[in-house]
Amino acid sequence: MSRHPLTRLCAIEDVPDGGALQVVLPERPPLAVFRLEGRCFVTDDTCTHGNASLCDGDVEGGLVICPFHAGSFDIRTGEAVDRPCVKKLQTYEAIEDGGALYTVFPEG
Ligand code: FES
Repeated sequence: MSRHPLTRLCAIEDVPDGGALQVVLPERPPLAVFRLEGRCFVTDDTCTHGNASLCDGDVEGGLVICPFHAGSFDIRTGEAVDRPCVKKLQTYEAIEDGGALYTVFPEG
């Protein structure tokens, strides 16, 4: 089985603990990197309910609350928790190495 290459997202120190950093890579939708209790999680940044950047939302109790209509998602799993969000948020592997954060994008 072939292993996809790692893509560098950011320096871990650039992600505020208990907050989020938007990461924009060429030819991909923007990503949100969250840091909860020192550990990083990566999701799509755009809310599944509308065109809001989740990095502009509040992070509370492991959830990110959308700044547009206050729906929320579980940062660790991407599950939609509060309406009007019902569609899961895409999550990505978060690989920490040497002070930087990487991910592996699925095929395609
Ligand atoms: S755009 Fe996020 S809850 Fe509506």
